[in-house]
Amino acid sequence: MCVIEPSPVVETRRLVLRSPGAQDIPRLATFANDPAIARMTLRMPHPYGIEDAEDFVLKVAVQDPARARTFLIEHEDHGPVGVIGLFEDADPAPEVGYWIARPFWGRGFATEALQGATAWASKAWKRRALMAGHFSDNPASGRVLEKAGFLYTGEVRKGFSRARGAEAETRRMVWLA
Ligand SMILES: CC(C)(COP(=O)(O)OP(=O)(O)OC[C@H]1O[C@@H](n2cnc3c(N)ncnc32)[C@H](O)[C@@H]1OP(=O)(O)O)[C@@H](O)C(=O)NCCC(=O)NCCS
Repeated sequence: MCVIEPSPVVETRRLVLRSPGAQDIPRLATFANDPAIARMTLRMPHPYGIEDAEDFVLKVAVQDPARARTFLIEHEDHGPVGVIGLFEDADPAPEVGYWIARPFWGRGFATEALQGATAWASKAWKRRALMAGHFSDNPASGRVLEKAGFLYTGEVRKGFSRARGAEAETRRMVWLA
């Protein structure tokens, strides 16, 4: 018997976190094609085209829900404004990553999405801890993590940023349920 697990939907005050679909591809490609976003992540390419957005949506559709969950961040009035994902890597707890489209920076959306994702991860995904890392030259993300209850572990790790084509120092953060 094949049991299809419904995709989780997380609602916060202004946002809904849901699975990305084919209809989101053009908007994702437009917003994600921003060096100021890609340079602050490990894996996002730059430039970021339609094929990258298609690839992203496909990968999310086939990800193992026990090991990874990726959500589109949709605002009640503005539509999709970003992405947040949680995935198992080499660390003992899943890693969280996110981005918000530049027109929507500074409105608390990343913090609100991250708070929704941590609450979901503890209650529905039954995780007791989450990890995150932000580049040392990205204090805005450090602030988002702090506001959502993450603490600095004291560890700084080198991470290779695809869009930079170079390594950068990553401050490791942890959240405990
Ligand atoms: C980092 C990012 C997610 C923030 O999204 P956002 O929706 O603007 O975040 P919020 O509005 O919830 O919070 C931003 C906080 O950072 C602060 N901030 C912004 N720029 C800052 C800077 N240069 N130095 C310190 N704090 C800064 C803001 O003042 C705000 O804190 P406050 O509420 O205490 O005033 C967004 O800029 C982004 O997507 N950047 C590119 C991708 C990225 O960095 N992803 C995270 C990788 S770890």
